[in-house]
Amino acid sequence: MMHSPLPIIIDCDPGHDDAIALLLAVASPRVELLGVTTCFGNCAVEDGTRNALRILTLAGETSVPVAQGASGPLMGATALGNYVHGTSGLDGPDIPEPAFLASELPAVQLIKSLIERSHESVTLVVTGPMTNAAELFRDHPEVMGNVREVIFMGGSTSGGNHTPSAEFNTYADPEALQQVIDSGIPLRMVGLNLTHQALATPDVVEQMRAMNHPLGQICAEWMGFFGSSYESVWSFESPPVHDPCTVAALVDPTVIQWQSSFLAVELEGKWSRGETIVDLHNRYSFAANAQIAVTLDRSAYWNLVLGSIDQLGQKTR
Ligand code: RIB
Ligand code: CA
Repeated sequence: MMHSPLPIIIDCDPGHDDAIALLLAVASPRVELLGVTTCFGNCAVEDGTRNALRILTLAGETSVPVAQGASGPLMGATALGNYVHGTSGLDGPDIPEPAFLASELPAVQLIKSLIERSHESVTLVVTGPMTNAAELFRDHPEVMGNVREVIFMGGSTSGGNHTPSAEFNTYADPEALQQVIDSGIPLRMVGLNLTHQALATPDVVEQMRAMNHPLGQICAEWMGFFGSSYESVWSFESPPVHDPCTVAALVDPTVIQWQSSFLAVELEGKWSRGETIVDLHNRYSFAANAQIAVTLDRSAYWNLVLGSIDQLGQKTR
């Protein structure tokens, strides 16, 4: 039986991997993209908003509302990831300028409005810092009743990337993630331990390049730029394409295996601020408060992502 598509909102900081996540969501009939909101992270939020509009324009989807969100974290300094994603936040190939404008609403107001209007509970997909979600649940807790879950790319069960112990999204706003954990909303974490299984190896990039439409070429060049950053900063031979793992898990629940765990964020550590504490072996005996992604079916993941890019590329060329 074909279920009705899952209503989702993607809160992101595009970002090369965020871009692929957006393409996957636009392409899949299994999800209904109600809206896109942006947050500081890979680049300044203004650039992330422009990039979100450009990506949706490229995908031929100009009816999805886009709203700009937080320009910095709830507390502390603003960390940006331009060192990975380039000056624009989406460096590499030339892509069209936006064919539509962002909403006048701020991100939290758009998310609130979309949740209130949805007849089915909404899944919030967060692929950047958790700031907008934290502000939403802090200022409008009443919407939580119509939120199915928050599924986010962030954290890790084993070491970081932005610092030795902290993954970038969580490092960028650790208080926000802890507040969302404490809100009690159903939560699934897709951390580096999972996304480092999602490498865009040369065979994957070649399949993008072999697609007979501009979208395939653009995705291949995005992987080229993203890959050059990952090689120079972390000596990765191929870049881990983090963010689409969240959407893939919604489109095909068999792609990722999960484990319940207690989850917390280190807020005080001199060296470890932003580290996610994932108690997979229940050493603290605290109640589990999150589902943690542990295993990726790599071939299913890439078949889904590449198939979606190709389908969208055929439609928009
Ligand atoms: O650490 C990886 C995460 O940080 C990804 O979401 C990437 O897009 C950046 O936001
Ligand atoms: Ca991201």
